[in-house]
Amino acid sequence: MTSSYALRGRAAVVTGGTRGIGRAVAEHLTRAGALVCVTARDADEVRRTAADLGGVGAAGSVADPEHLREVVDLALREFGRLDVLVNNAATNLPYGPLMDVDPLAWRESFTVNVEAPLRLVQCAWRAWMREHGGAVINVCTEGATHVGPRIGAYGTTKAALLHLTQQLAGELAPKVRVNSVSPGLVRTEMARFVWEPGEEEVAAGLPLGRIGEPDDIARAVVWLASEEAEWVTGTDLLVDGGTRVRAAGTAKGYAVHGHLRSRGPATP
Ligand SMILES: NC(=O)c1ccc[n+]([C@@H]2O[C@H](COP(=O)([O-])OP(=O)(O)OC[C@H]3O[C@@H](n4cnc5c(N)ncnc54)[C@H](OP(=O)(O)O)[C@@H]3O)[C@@H](O)[C@H]2O)c1
Repeated sequence: MTSSYALRGRAAVVTGGTRGIGRAVAEHLTRAGALVCVTARDADEVRRTAADLGGVGAAGSVADPEHLREVVDLALREFGRLDVLVNNAATNLPYGPLMDVDPLAWRESFTVNVEAPLRLVQCAWRAWMREHGGAVINVCTEGATHVGPRIGAYGTTKAALLHLTQQLAGELAPKVRVNSVSPGLVRTEMARFVWEPGEEEVAAGLPLGRIGEPDDIARAVVWLASEEAEWVTGTDLLVDGGTRVRAAGTAKGYAVHGHLRSRGPATP
């Protein structure tokens, strides 16, 4: 289905493109005809993914401004253009009550989740998009608009990313469209500690009866990147299986907050 979107010959960068949602986005963009550059910290995974997709890759952390400049340079060198930027890489650390949070870890989460997307857009804008246009998609979260147990740092960064999306959309129009996609709970490594301990219970609490798959999010990202969404900017596309409207439905209980209270993500 996504192959019908007009992305043939377009060039895209996907941060965190080696697994989970980013990998699915990179695959769907490739299938839609785009040339794709993936990034992540693990160099072997970057090489493998780029080879699988017939694209290119750059290893490094989005927290490193030099890496972000290299990524844009690489895409322009290899593809001669840069039409789509997907800010997907993120951290869900530090985890826990905010009164216990180390301010340096708090700062690092803002560097990765908010500052890096802005810096990458700046690089892409200056090098290509200001003159030729483009589309930016930031991956936020369903939880960005409300609070949750022990995820205060993550939620605050994603709320900031949501605001950044809207601000950039206004500033960069009409050349560049800037939108976000906000996933609910998706079957990836980052969220494993939430869905794995009781997936059936979590799914039963969701109006659409299952947790998300990376492909669910990728389809939304590719649509926003395509010309099908040419009159859409500054919006947040919620892809959450009905999580936010669950209170009005028949589904009973919501296990996610219980899992957030009793467990934490694997620390690197
Ligand atoms: N899964 C969910 O339920 C869910 C829900 C809402 C929102 N989201 C959002 O969806 C996005 C993708 O998450 P995911 O669940 O797919 O995570 P994931 O499966 O853990 O994948 C994360 C990807 O980002 C890369 N990455 C992590 N930190 C990085 C850094 N500092 N610099 C460069 N690359 C980095 C990882 O590779 P390396 O480790 O090799 O760097 C990997 O490719 C994130 O923005 C997340 O906040 C996820």
